[in-house]
Amino acid sequence: MAKILIIGSANADLMLAVPVLPKPGETVRGRDFVVAPGGKGANQAVAAARLGGEVSFVGCIGDDAFGSSLRGALSDSGVDVSHLQVAAGVASGIAMVMTEASGENSIAISGGANDRLMPEDIDVLAALIGQASLLICQFESPMATVERALELARSRGVPVLLNPAPARPIADSWLDGLRFLVPNRHELATLSGLAINHPGDIEVAARQLLASGVQTVIVTLGRDGVAHIDSAGITIHPAPVVDAVDTTGAGDTFVGAFAAHWCRSADTDAAIAFAQRAAAFSVTSRGAQASMPWLADLD
Ligand code: RIB
Repeated sequence: MAKILIIGSANADLMLAVPVLPKPGETVRGRDFVVAPGGKGANQAVAAARLGGEVSFVGCIGDDAFGSSLRGALSDSGVDVSHLQVAAGVASGIAMVMTEASGENSIAISGGANDRLMPEDIDVLAALIGQASLLICQFESPMATVERALELARSRGVPVLLNPAPARPIADSWLDGLRFLVPNRHELATLSGLAINHPGDIEVAARQLLASGVQTVIVTLGRDGVAHIDSAGITIHPAPVVDAVDTTGAGDTFVGAFAAHWCRSADTDAAIAFAQRAAAFSVTSRGAQASMPWLADLD
């Protein structure tokens, strides 16, 4: 089976439902506090594994209670955690997640043990990277570590999907040869340096990234759907209509589901449609990993 290797973060999400997201200096009364497994890398691994992918996750957790439950959540979804590291005496990563009634959220993270995943930790996994059918990275790990993973994949001809979240500017050299770049609107603006105010701006910004060597740009636009841009043109895939309760992890569900389908089918449009269904399913209940579908849920 095609192997998906995901290098990234695992966080304990401290989740609070609020009527509206507080403005600076404002206090709002929340409810339904829960601690749930999250982190962009772990979320994407869980989504891909639940949807039929053979997935290995590389990350770093602390030797605390949060770390144990993050490992358990990955294993329970069928993710191989044999390369998951533990940083002694370091707290696991956490994310403070506030979700308002519309389903929109606001997130602040503390990297914790995620920040201990070093480039040298990736060097020793060169053989594992070389065996992957797809490598997926995001930006919640140290940037030098992400860069090393991309270099190793590139030198071994392994296709890479980069989800540049949370948004950070990068050198053009990072983009060269990427099989898939999957930003949201905000991340697209950061990477391209262009404002995204109108629908036409998306194609202009994406074409700039294609010119830097990306093969396919897939822009996730929430309820506006997905824009797929490559040398053949642009396709807009409308989003399934659902009542959103919590959008936390919807982008991660999209990435994991896309990877699972693409590794089976090598069909980008079909993988996008599948990933949209998975992401739509995920926003109908609370939590990042808690709301992600299994294959049977999408039948
Ligand atoms: O993408 C959603 C994730 O972002 C949350 O699970 C949180 O941990 C942050 O990393």
